[in-house]
Amino acid sequence: MSADDTAARTVAIIMDGNGRWAGDRGLPVLEGHRAGSKVLKQTVKDAVKLGIEELCVYAFSTENWTRPRSEVSGLMDLFAELIESETPELDKQGVRMAFIGRRGEVSERLRDRMGWAEQKTADNNRLRLFVAFNYGGRAELLDAAARYQGGGEEEFARLLYAPQMRDPDLVIRTSGEQRLSNFLLWQSAYSELYFSDRLWPDFEIEELRRALDEFAARRRRYGGR
Ligand code: IPE
Ligand code: IPE
Ligand code: MG
Repeated sequence: MSADDTAARTVAIIMDGNGRWAGDRGLPVLEGHRAGSKVLKQTVKDAVKLGIEELCVYAFSTENWTRPRSEVSGLMDLFAELIESETPELDKQGVRMAFIGRRGEVSERLRDRMGWAEQKTADNNRLRLFVAFNYGGRAELLDAAARYQGGGEEEFARLLYAPQMRDPDLVIRTSGEQRLSNFLLWQSAYSELYFSDRLWPDFEIEELRRALDEFAARRRRYGGR
C-alpha cells in the first residue's frame, strides 16, 4: 500500500470546547465561540496544506437551540458575520462551501448568506468545506426517510443533505468528550474516530497532523478479514 492510500482525504470535526475555554479564562461564552471561529479559519487553511480534500465541521446542532437565548442569538449573529466576512477569502483559496442541516429553521438573513456563499464558491475545487448548521443526524435520517421510495443504501444516501459528500475517513472531536452528539450518523458508519483533549480554540495544525498520522497507522477492515 502506498503512503497515499493511508491518507485521510475526508475529515469531519466536532469543534467542541468553546464554552470551557471561555470559562477557564473568566470570559463570556461568546468570546469562546469567537476564538473558535478564528481557529476554524486557520484549520481550513491547514486542511488545504495537509492535502485534505473534504472537510465537514459541526457548527451548530439541532439540540443547541436549548442553550440560553443570548448564546443562541450571539451564535447566529457570529455565524452570519463570519460567512459574510470570510467567504471572499475562502473563495480566493479555492474552497467550495456547502451547508448541511435544516435550513428552513434558521433566520432568513442567515439562509440568504448561506445560499450566497454556496453560489459564490460553486466553481472551486481545492477543498470542499461542508458546514453542519442546525444539523442533526437523526433529523437528516428522518428527512431522507420521508422521501425514500426504496432502492437500497445508494438510493437512500442520495437523499441526505449533501449527497456529493463522501463518508468521512476520520472524525475528530476536541475537548475530551468521546461521543458523536448526533453528528453524521449515517456517514460515520466506518469512520475512524480520534478524540483530542484540546479545547477547540486551542486546536492547531500539529494536533491535526497527529490525528492524520494516527489515522494513517490504523487498519480499516469494514467487517472483512
Ligand atoms: C462547541 O463548543 C460549539 C457549539 C456547540 C456551538 P461548546 O459551546 O459546546 O463548548 P463546551 O462544550 O461548553 O465547552
Ligand atoms: C456538539 O457539541 C455540537 C457541536 C460541536 C456543534 P455539544 O457541546 O453540543 O455536544 P454535547 O452536548 O456535549 O453532547
Ligand atoms: Mg460542548
